Amino acid sequence: MNNLASFSAPKITVVGTGYLGATHAISMAVLGFDVLGFDVDHHKIAQLRTGKVPFFEPGLPEKLEEALASGRLHFTTNMDKVAGFGDVHFVCVGTPQSADSTAANLSYVDAAFSELAARITRKALLVGKSTVPIGTAARLTQMVQDISPLGPELELAWNPEFLREGFAVQDTLHPDRLVFGVASEWAEAMLRRTFLPLLDEGIPLIVADLATAELVKVAANSFLATKISFINAMAEVCECTSADVSLLAQALSLDSRIGGRFLKPGLGFGGGCLPKDIRAFKHRAEELGVGQAVRFLGEVDSINNRRRVRTVDLIRELAGGDLTGVRVAALGAAFKPNSDDVRDAPALDVARLLYMEGAVVTVYDPEANANAHRLYPDLNYVGSLAEAADQADVVALLTEWEEFRQADPNSLGARVRHRRILDGRHALDPDRYTSKGWEYRALGRPYQPAVRVRQNVEKPATQLPL
Ligand code: UDX
Repeated sequence: MNNLASFSAPKITVVGTGYLGATHAISMAVLGFDVLGFDVDHHKIAQLRTGKVPFFEPGLPEKLEEALASGRLHFTTNMDKVAGFGDVHFVCVGTPQSADSTAANLSYVDAAFSELAARITRKALLVGKSTVPIGTAARLTQMVQDISPLGPELELAWNPEFLREGFAVQDTLHPDRLVFGVASEWAEAMLRRTFLPLLDEGIPLIVADLATAELVKVAANSFLATKISFINAMAEVCECTSADVSLLAQALSLDSRIGGRFLKPGLGFGGGCLPKDIRAFKHRAEELGVGQAVRFLGEVDSINNRRRVRTVDLIRELAGGDLTGVRVAALGAAFKPNSDDVRDAPALDVARLLYMEGAVVTVYDPEANANAHRLYPDLNYVGSLAEAADQADVVALLTEWEEFRQADPNSLGARVRHRRILDGRHALDPDRYTSKGWEYRALGRPYQPAVRVRQNVEKPATQLPL
């Protein structure tokens, strides 16, 4: 592929400006391309046009400002304009779990491709970025070529995205690798030209067929989910012994073949990707007749869900065996820190389960309160850690925001009714808490009673931060 110079910089469109699409559109404009972002949601487009990122993502507002100032980034709700503008069209719409099964809902993907195909009148490349079941790209190729007046001139490729929320800018501009799923040399050349700035930086590239590219994404997410559930399964074993999963994870992580990333025990994985992707993968494998090969993903999912129930058990134990009327300070609602995403969030699920058992739950998340409130309006939401802790019988750290890690056990203790803490993310130093008279519990760790010291009750702090 050495004739890239004959390809001028393609004009790029991005269909779907949610988490993935907005980040991709902004990043491509920052890299120097002319970009047109599209969404059916007028409000979202209006926000983006005025420089407002519709979700919380560190670093992205600055990049949006830079891209808008360059004059290379525009947004529209008009699909005709999209079709006329682009040489390379990226489809970044969602593939949520279906309402009635564990399969992925492909209706948004199908709609985006068919609407583009019906309108495009010059040779162009359609590129899927959404996470889809294996075989989708082949089916869509047939579909768009049937619909389009261009027929086979309208080509399709798949370019999976591996960005993590909270690190979206870094992962988009400096990814670990690029994967191109292509069906022709022209498609490969177009993608190489499009990602030239990253390839010039030495980012590794895998060029593959369409099915492999689709599979890379779900396989990667399945592996990560399995690694998390593995250590959480070990936590279950630890809970029946006096073993400590935190020490176990440390010891395992020092084996360079295993490594420590995604080996953090706790409340488990959530979010808009890992849970639904492993379920959709299992569903698709069953359709393909290879369900047995990934049956373990059902166990990965079950282990993950059991952590939520076990967390409620530990909070109940801390509260003395009954949650009725117990005031719980739920610290965190987002599925992980540095995000306001509450999709399949373990933290919020625990808060909901506590509420259903009769606890009085007060939730505080630095960024996700509004999204959480929309999903579970029955819980109490407050705007600070101090308010959440006020008169709490149990404090439950459910999302490991830095603010919670840094909280001072004494100041926090001055607010609560009882010094009892559940560390759902292994984010705290148990000694810091027990030495200040707190009872400390964490999944997969032996019970840590409060250390009784004579002068450990200090004067209440009058000022925030805790
Ligand atoms: C994930 C993939 O990492 C990313 O490549 C893909 O594109 C989208 O899905 P994301 O959903 O942003 O990204 O979150 P990630 O950082 O992977 O964390 C997923 C969940 O696992 C979080 O709930 C996190 O709290 C949990 N987790 C992660 C653990 O419980 N233990 C760990 O050791 C690591």
